[in-house]
Formats: sequence, structure tokens, C-alpha cells
Amino acid sequence: MDKLDVKLWTLAAKGQIVPDRSLLKTPEQIKAIQESADLNTAVLDHVAAHIRKGMSTEEIDRLVYDYTTQHGGIPAPLNYQGFPKSVCTSVNNVICHGIPDENEILKEGDIINVDVSTILNGYYSDASRMFTIGQISPEAEKLVRVTKECVELGLKAAKPWGHLGDIAYAINTHARQNGFSVVEDIGGHGIGLEFHEDPYVSYVTPKGSEMVLVPGMMFTIEPMINEGSPEFYIDEGNGWTVYTIDDGLSAQIEYMVLITENGVEVMTK
Ligand code: MF3
Ligand code: CO
Repeated sequence: MDKLDVKLWTLAAKGQIVPDRSLLKTPEQIKAIQESADLNTAVLDHVAAHIRKGMSTEEIDRLVYDYTTQHGGIPAPLNYQGFPKSVCTSVNNVICHGIPDENEILKEGDIINVDVSTILNGYYSDASRMFTIGQISPEAEKLVRVTKECVELGLKAAKPWGHLGDIAYAINTHARQNGFSVVEDIGGHGIGLEFHEDPYVSYVTPKGSEMVLVPGMMFTIEPMINEGSPEFYIDEGNGWTVYTIDDGLSAQIEYMVLITENGVEVMTK
């Protein structure tokens, strides 16, 4: 048992949820995962440079597939548990896991989340951004702005030896103060060696609850913020796409982060 084991064991004995040592990335792993994350950011930048009114979400899929593979990577969503495309594109009332479609054309006033996940040399990275098409409504503008603020506040609340719940509390509080709701039962996840690792990251849990944040932990901060009801349903036809139950708008922004000795680092956003 080394010093860290003793510290984790002591916390566990006090009833805290602590990560398994296998969830704490080594410096070598962090370096390799950061290379994957850098490609992931470049893919998002590539989408940002080309997304426009009149484009189909299928074209976004092609941008992501071509750029990723031309740079030696593999789009992580492609064939992941049967997901048919290289990226998730979630427009307006779609909360997440929208499937790119040649018949879905971006139009003035749309808001869209583009969720890019990359495998490079076997290492995984994941981040998503919101894009707005032309002139959007003031309510949509506020939703996108508040979602960004939520993620930034969540990031600020992430501290070594703090808790995952601190992040959730910061996010949920800000969303609700602005009259919005946070989706429950769909959350973030550990990442790096696999696409989805422990822990599951909720954005509705209380401050001081859930897993202790230990240096070397890597996970996503990716709250889904709804204009109206937080309730959702999943498309029965494709088994993936998640819609708001009330047809209200939903926004999501995802950062992939690393807990360090001194704080937190964003690996891709
Ligand atoms: N990037 C999504 C996430 O944060 C990926 C969902 S799985 C997929 O978990 F197959 F839809 F890509
Ligand atoms: Co993710």
C-alpha cells in the first residue's frame, strides 16, 4: 500500500465513494489521451469552420468522418453499440444522440449540438459544442448562454479531493436560477482508455455527494439543459435519439477534464 492507497482507503472507511486505482490515469496515459483530445478539438474546429445554414446533418457527419480518418483517428460513435454514424447531431428539441440525416437541413434559428468523440492510437476523447444558425430567438440565445455558463461553473467547482456532486450542484443551481431544468438519468462518464468508464456523472446530485475527485481521474462535464420540462423520451424507431417530452429546446455542452494535484485541466472542449 502506498500513500495514495492509504488516503483512499481511509476515505472509503469513512463512507466516501472513492475511485478504483484503475480509474487514475498515469502520466504516460495522460499524454496519449491528450493527443486524442487534441485531434478531437481539431475536428470540432473543423466543424465550426464549415457549419452553415442549408447544410444537412449528414454533411456534418461526412466532415467529421473525413477529417478524423485523414488524421489517423477513428470516430468513436461509429458502430458503437450499433450507432450508425460518426457524430451525434442534436437539433432544437433533441436532447442528445441525434443521428445525422441527409434529409435534416439546418435552417435559420436552429440550435444544434455537435458531439464529437475520437479514438487515436486506442485512446478516447469526447467533447461537444453548441452552434447557432443565423438569427436565433432570444430564448434560444439565453438557453445556449446559460448552458455554457453552467459548464464553466461546473468546471470551477471541480477540485481535487472535492466531490462530483459539487460540480452537479453548481450546474443545477445556475440552470434553475435561470428558469431552466437539468436532464436526469443521462449524464457524463469517465473516459480515456474506454469510451465510457466509471464514474457515471450526474448533474442533479447534492453538493458533497458522489465520488471523491482524485488526481488522475478523467471524465466529462456535459449537462443537458432544457427550456421546459426535464423529461424525455427515446425514439422508438432508431433506439437512440432523445427528445424533450414537451418539444421544448434543449442545449448541451461537453468538456472532457482531468483532475490534477492543483486543480482541473480541460483536455478537449
Ligand atoms: N458523446 C456521447 C457521450 O457523451 C456519445 C454517445 S454514444 C453514441 O456519451 F454512440 F451515440 F455516440
Ligand atoms: Co460524452
